[in-house]
Amino acid sequence: MKIGLLGIGTVGSGVFSHLSDREDITVGKILVRRERPDLGDLATFHIEDILNDPEIDTVVEVMGGMEPAFEYMMRAIRAGKNVATANKLLLSYHLEDLLTAAREYGVQFKIDASVGGGIPYLFNLMRSRRTDTIRSLFGIVNGTTNLILDTMQTHGSDFDDVLAQAQRAGYAEADPSADIDGIDSLSKLCISASVAFGKYVNPEHISVFGIRNITREDIHQFKKLGYVCRLLVRAERIDDDHISAFVEPTLLGPGEPETTARRNDNLIGLVGTYTGQQYFYGQGVGNDPTAFAVVSGLADIRDNFRLLENDPPSGRFIVDNSHIMHRYYVRTTSRLSIPAEKLRGGESNRYITAPMPVDRMHALAASLRMRDPGLFIAGIRG
Ligand SMILES: NC(=O)c1ccc[n+]([C@@H]2O[C@H](COP(=O)([O-])OP(=O)(O)OC[C@H]3O[C@@H](n4cnc5c(N)ncnc54)[C@H](OP(=O)(O)O)[C@@H]3O)[C@@H](O)[C@H]2O)c1
Repeated sequence: MKIGLLGIGTVGSGVFSHLSDREDITVGKILVRRERPDLGDLATFHIEDILNDPEIDTVVEVMGGMEPAFEYMMRAIRAGKNVATANKLLLSYHLEDLLTAAREYGVQFKIDASVGGGIPYLFNLMRSRRTDTIRSLFGIVNGTTNLILDTMQTHGSDFDDVLAQAQRAGYAEADPSADIDGIDSLSKLCISASVAFGKYVNPEHISVFGIRNITREDIHQFKKLGYVCRLLVRAERIDDDHISAFVEPTLLGPGEPETTARRNDNLIGLVGTYTGQQYFYGQGVGNDPTAFAVVSGLADIRDNFRLLENDPPSGRFIVDNSHIMHRYYVRTTSRLSIPAEKLRGGESNRYITAPMPVDRMHALAASLRMRDPGLFIAGIRG
């Protein structure tokens, strides 16, 4: 089996080095966009060199971004090549287009590396859903934000300092927006929910609030109240046409499983009708775990092991977050127009609200943010 590698950055170089030990799966060509003399004849600037090479049967997309990654994958599928990708942002928008094309052209399409890296979580989700009805999924799917929250909690540090430290250590990107605004978690929740519940989910319909505005004083308050804060995703099947799905910082009491996820670990849970609650824990990011997940997908292609390709999601869910209610911590300089108890101490206004629907709180947060860009909210579990 010979692959064409699109992109050789963090994940691509992990895949390249992982495959250098193997004889059954080899790299035929690598698409680059700047000179890479170290790659010799393997490097090419032209996607056609990969798409028109009859010896290359599989394309691995690890370039990131929407375009030209989407166009290249569609062209690869139409050229009869299997595709594996780690591109969660793209998959959250285009999973349906890509899986539909893969079925039409009879090729395999692997997404194992897009959520949970080396855990391997998606693979098990794809297996479980064939023989069980998944009721809900939840947990921590973004290692960077977990590292930031865990460090703030443990050392009482400032958000900006921890973020800068994570960037220097290579755990956070130069532009950290996708992580700290919850977009990366949202993409992963969108893919997971589509796979788990069997219908596609529009990422723009999922409610999201990130951790950009969390402060050391917030964490101090949470400690006083006996809580640990984690950025959690949650999705739940309501009926055949509706799910709830949201991403928000969440305050957890002692003993909650997610509080055991330290540093950049992921912890993802799901509840099946037959299996009950299951947890997946481990390294969700980084070149080695992600490369492992890509290469696992390639080994499945080699063995013609088709899961999602044989049984893709069908139809679209409506996201409805009006049924899930819980209390919220709110820090705002604005007046709060909902039932809430004001916390004592500190310079800012901090409240614990009465239980309220997730969609209502997220709508309120969006409007409060116009007047108070530093607003922070966190759901409270239990
Ligand atoms: N890093 C992780 O831990 C992780 C985990 C799970 C999933 N992913 C996903 O994996 C994908 C890759 O992530 P990464 O961290 O490896 O990114 P990265 O380090 O930025 O690498 C991307 C590589 O693709 C190249 N590239 C981009 N556009 C190109 C184009 N048009 N033609 C040729 N080459 C192009 C870049 O070239 P230059 O070097 O010239 O910029 C770079 O070498 C993303 O979709 C990401 O979301 C990453």
